[in-house]
Amino acid sequence: MKNKAPKIQQVKKGKFIAFEGIDGSGKSTQIRLLANKLKEIGVYCYTTMEPTDSPIGSLIHQIMTGRIKTDNKVIAGLFVADRLDHLLNDVNGVLSKIMEGTTVITDRYYFSSYAYHSVDMPMDWVIQANAQSKELLQPTVTIFIDVNPDNAVERIAKNRFHQELFEKKSRLIKVREKYLEAFEKLKDEENIVIIDGNRSQEEIAEEIWDKVKSYFV
Ligand code: ADP
Ligand code: TYD
Repeated sequence: MKNKAPKIQQVKKGKFIAFEGIDGSGKSTQIRLLANKLKEIGVYCYTTMEPTDSPIGSLIHQIMTGRIKTDNKVIAGLFVADRLDHLLNDVNGVLSKIMEGTTVITDRYYFSSYAYHSVDMPMDWVIQANAQSKELLQPTVTIFIDVNPDNAVERIAKNRFHQELFEKKSRLIKVREKYLEAFEKLKDEENIVIIDGNRSQEEIAEEIWDKVKSYFV
């Protein structure tokens, strides 16, 4: 019997937009505004976040709020596992949504690991540890909302009852520097957009829309 030529799979892939920034930079606000904007033009999107609400994510939350103590290397490893579960789990894995053609917007992805964990350990180790996620799914675009740590801390203090482990200003200064270092290091292999987040919500939303609308209209 002759070999049949393989059928060409028409895989309709959705866009994957990752928002990044230090704590209090306005990611969730801008994700909400972008999702609304997309809805207005008839694009349904799935919004999600890391750490996730999976069992691994909830373990991370307990560590971040100080209820469980562990080494920073363990935390970095848990984020690697949480991210893989975020992509691959059977119930609401991001990868299958993307393959179905759904647009997915995530509040944090692997650049969060590159920035937050490389304060305590070599960035190359963190990049290497996340290599499987990168291989499975690279963002169509990573949007970094760049906010002065003074502004971020002021916003956090206004709105939260307690300061979580990573929300101290000196740490946020270092994390911001690490983000910029990671973007510089990977600028040839990633699509990164840096937005000045020290402005009004509306001005920021307008600039983000300007940068992403070509993927949808
Ligand atoms: P993140 O998700 O990055 O932690 P949020 O979107 O939750 O940030 O914003 C943190 C706080 O700052 C919220 O109370 C939000 O209303 C406020 N905020 C968001 N964007 C701005 C902005 N451009 N200017 C002033 N306050 C803002
Ligand atoms: P969260 O309360 O969700 O903060 P935010 O609303 O600012 O995103 O907590 C997430 C925290 O986890 C935040 O401090 C960043 C940190 N984090 C890491 O350290 N590594 C990671 O890989 C990710 C995704 C987040």
